[in-house]
Amino acid sequence: MASIVEGREVSALLDELTTMVGREDPYGHYTRLRELGPVLRDADGTLIVTRFTECQSVSRDHKLGKMPVELLPHLGLADWAEHPALYGYFTSLLGINPPDHTRLRRLVSSGFTVRRVQELRPATTRMIDEMIEAMAAAGTADFVSVFAFPLPCNVISELLGVPEADRAQFQHLVQDWSAVLDEITPEVLLKADPAAQAVRDYLAGLAAERRRHPRGDLMSAMVEHEEAGDRLTGDELLTMAGLLFAAGFETTTNLLSNGLAALLDHPGQRDALLADPAAAVEELLRFDSPVQNIDRTVLEPSTVAGVTLEPGQRIVAYTGAANRDPRRFTDPDRLDLGRTDNASLSFGGGIHYCLGAPMARLEAQIAFPRLLERLPGLRRVEGAERRDSLTIRGFDTLPVNTD
Ligand code: HEM
Repeated sequence: MASIVEGREVSALLDELTTMVGREDPYGHYTRLRELGPVLRDADGTLIVTRFTECQSVSRDHKLGKMPVELLPHLGLADWAEHPALYGYFTSLLGINPPDHTRLRRLVSSGFTVRRVQELRPATTRMIDEMIEAMAAAGTADFVSVFAFPLPCNVISELLGVPEADRAQFQHLVQDWSAVLDEITPEVLLKADPAAQAVRDYLAGLAAERRRHPRGDLMSAMVEHEEAGDRLTGDELLTMAGLLFAAGFETTTNLLSNGLAALLDHPGQRDALLADPAAAVEELLRFDSPVQNIDRTVLEPSTVAGVTLEPGQRIVAYTGAANRDPRRFTDPDRLDLGRTDNASLSFGGGIHYCLGAPMARLEAQIAFPRLLERLPGLRRVEGAERRDSLTIRGFDTLPVNTD
């Protein structure tokens, strides 16, 4: 039976992950954490798993779930419902358990099937081609602001029905809001709360507009569910729209920028990308995932790697580390776009498995081959800045030159 590993080495490695050194390259730290043991404990009592098998079983175990809001006061968050940033997170799909999770997820999942998402292919391709033209004309540009943010933001906005003129403001609002995924402190909430409230107010206006004038978009469909009676309350509608909207670009932006950086750093892989873009995107997701960890709370007694888990215990699965576990992947630190055994944990697992995975895949599978084919001189230039976040891995800026 395995025991829990804790102490100075574990805490020091976890602390370093939160510094800029860890932000630049967490993978060396992950290797050391994985070798310490299957289940680690941080100084604050949180359990950590970093190996593939354990991360996968944590993501799939029905006895583990999202922290019930009744437990939030124990974390010093008795007033969580008064903070828009926390309310919008803890009451969303990402923060709730069955049966509410089952009911709400079923209501929106039909909007995100592979077939529905494939219908977005022509519009997505058009947007990509226009952005590539603009990049070519500009010469030097920040890839995040000219491509990686606007593409997924426009795609989810098209689906939801957010008009074009309103979209640009959301990049910073959503970044400020999602800072609560990393840590919940008064300083973080000072920026996160007004940002979350601004997103919610905007979506409330849009929902009101669709109640008056329904269209064929997802917001109109959600308004219909709301009006049909007890299936979706007005409050749930706004929380759901906020999550879909934010999750719809926050992470895909980082798949596009992490993926492009990896492609430009490995020019020898170009042919493999063009030969099989779908397999290549899976490998890019494995190699440098936009989401590096997922969080669970023990709801009923369970075990992981022989360690007993007690109700109320918090456990974090470092999926970004699991994706580089040599027990699961051959030569895991090598980017190999021809790799076929590359199913990673980047979209999570179990009942919270990413709803937007087909959409993120579609965008990346169209974008990367077109970028490399249309802009053969594309290269990175000085000045890239990594995002300061443990959970979300990406770039704040990724300057490139197209000459
Ligand atoms: C590369 C891009 C993306 C990555 C890496 C990603 C990653 C993830 C992960 C890891 C989870 C599970 C969290 C957990 O288990 O605690 C998740 C859930 C979710 N994602 Fe994504 N995501 C991406 C794109 C998107 C897009 C484009 C959308 C929406 C349009 C989206 C919507 C959601 C939603 C609604 C959930 C919550 C599902 C639930 O709890 O039932 N994601 N995502």
